[in-house]
Amino acid sequence: MRIKNLTEYNKEKEKFKISPEKFWAEKADTFTWHKKWDEILNWDFHKANINWFSGGKLNITENCLDRHLSSIGDQTAIKWIANDPNEKNIDITYIELHQKVCQFSNVLKSKGIKKGDRICLYMPMVPELAVAVLACARIGAIHSVVFAGFSAKSLSDRINDASCKALITADGGFRGSKITPLKEIANEALANSPSIDFCIVLKRTNSKIEMVKNRDFWWDEEIKKSSTNCPAESMDAEDKLFILYTSGSTGKPKGIVHSTAGYMIYAQYSFENVFQYNEGDIYWCTADIGWITGHSYIIYGPLLSGATTVMFEGVPTYPDAGRFWEIVEKNNINIFYTAPTAIRSLEAMGNDYVRKYNLNSLKVLGTVGEPINEDAWNWYFKEIGGNTAPIVDTWWQTETGGIMISNLAGINKAKATFATLPLPGIEACVVDENGEEMKKNNIEGKLCIKFPWPSIARTIYGDHQRFINTYFSAFPGKYFSGDGCYKNKDGLFRITGRVDDVLIVSGHNLGTAEIESAIDEHENVCESAIVGYPHQIKGNGVFAYVICHHKPKDEKTINTEINNLITRHVGPIAKVDKFLYVEGLPKTRSGKIMRRILRKIASKEYSNLGDTSTLLDPNVVENIILESKK
Ligand code: PRX
Repeated sequence: MRIKNLTEYNKEKEKFKISPEKFWAEKADTFTWHKKWDEILNWDFHKANINWFSGGKLNITENCLDRHLSSIGDQTAIKWIANDPNEKNIDITYIELHQKVCQFSNVLKSKGIKKGDRICLYMPMVPELAVAVLACARIGAIHSVVFAGFSAKSLSDRINDASCKALITADGGFRGSKITPLKEIANEALANSPSIDFCIVLKRTNSKIEMVKNRDFWWDEEIKKSSTNCPAESMDAEDKLFILYTSGSTGKPKGIVHSTAGYMIYAQYSFENVFQYNEGDIYWCTADIGWITGHSYIIYGPLLSGATTVMFEGVPTYPDAGRFWEIVEKNNINIFYTAPTAIRSLEAMGNDYVRKYNLNSLKVLGTVGEPINEDAWNWYFKEIGGNTAPIVDTWWQTETGGIMISNLAGINKAKATFATLPLPGIEACVVDENGEEMKKNNIEGKLCIKFPWPSIARTIYGDHQRFINTYFSAFPGKYFSGDGCYKNKDGLFRITGRVDDVLIVSGHNLGTAEIESAIDEHENVCESAIVGYPHQIKGNGVFAYVICHHKPKDEKTINTEINNLITRHVGPIAKVDKFLYVEGLPKTRSGKIMRRILRKIASKEYSNLGDTSTLLDPNVVENIILESKK
């Protein structure tokens, strides 16, 4: 299935042009099906209805596990590396992983979980998280992983949105020198989550925790009672595989839904081709499984390809800033995939941490999650890749399920700050304000996709109309990504960032509305507006304009109080970096905050604020500028 050179790459693009359906059916054919499909594709972007391989029956875990057992059963599937460098790492073979998944599937079944039930996972980066994800998929339950850095309120909101029946969590999680009290947070969340029937708790930190009788059960005790044999549920190609929440520009987070067959096919296709995975390669993606990158490129993509996937529990700077490179050397990592924010923060620590280690095993480097600046790209290429390992700058989203725009490592040329070209099978285009495709090169506009691909999200859980409004209404007939894009003279794509009110901070999606409503909880706050500003390490920092009922006596105190509220309502990742207390916000006559102006002021670009004639009160802007210059 892997494209091995430029001739094959061009041939694949040609094949797709002739018949997109045949192109994808050929890929689908390489998987294990209980029953082949009746129809390859059926779609309507106006109603946002997309069906791939309808009528087909399969189970994704048979493709991740069972089909590899006779050939590579003894090969390591998951190589787990603990937060503490002195704790023993764990290698789990494909045979062992298959057994563990079956065993936990039986635990879920014994507690009454059936096909279609939703299960929430709130766990640290331990092998049991991967096991729980796959166990859900094995029995046809829909997993909803919530990143273990989210607050109790974010967790219960997500549980309630999907009416999850069970929560899988741990007593706590290690992250660097800290312990996250996961069960304590979960207990607070569960007080507001009536749909949960039971909770399974993994012992990881040995923290003292409160277990609720008849609701909470220990993972280890349940496992002991279960057999390692569990036949896989036969799923329809379009049955839901998982829900994963992502921030929106307005309102509550969106439960993005992915379905079974299309997601599976694209996860493997993109994994093998972008990273040019070869049998035996040791592959490490540093993301957390709480995000889409972890779903597609720690669990599903690598396991579908029979790779050895590394899972790291800790953080890049613990015990020191050489941790990533020590892991690369010790484990002979061949393919390394991380985020620009990690690259920038490690670059800032100096090269001594890098040069202590032998990084010669690295063949391919990847980046994802936000635009990478030229300086960070060059450092990554030179210091980490030794000027030889190609970098793949991979653009994609929770909603796309897999990598959409990227060079294929060593096949087509990389270029600093450019994601380069859509993968064969992806019809990306740049449109102007009116939705007209800008076919020429050297243009800038908004990034859309014209034709469905197998792993496109199918809906927002419980709100299909919001799905249509968010992605298919701005430019009818096209999927709108929400990103801006520049196409250079050679037709290469560079992603310029979000054009809506989503902020990407350290590679995490944050919705301005969510942060604002947390700030507005403060008794002295009447209104707030959040924008991003350029930040050396995080890419974007969080800048808050706040209007108070009465002038705060001590700004330091109110800043801390507001950040505590954000931590409680959203999570620490959304904390404000800079506050500015103002008397008014620039609003249009219809009451909409003009964030464009606030963004410029936050970046200290005071001239060229653009057209302010539609503002209700243009004096507001002058006052904010005066405040900002103080
Ligand atoms: O703005 C783009 C940015 O991350 C957004 C998607 O975020 P999320 O759904 O959390 O998924 C992140 C991991 C796939 C996009 O709309 N983004 C992602 N990759 C890149 C990027 N921006 C620039 N370059 C990238 N390689």
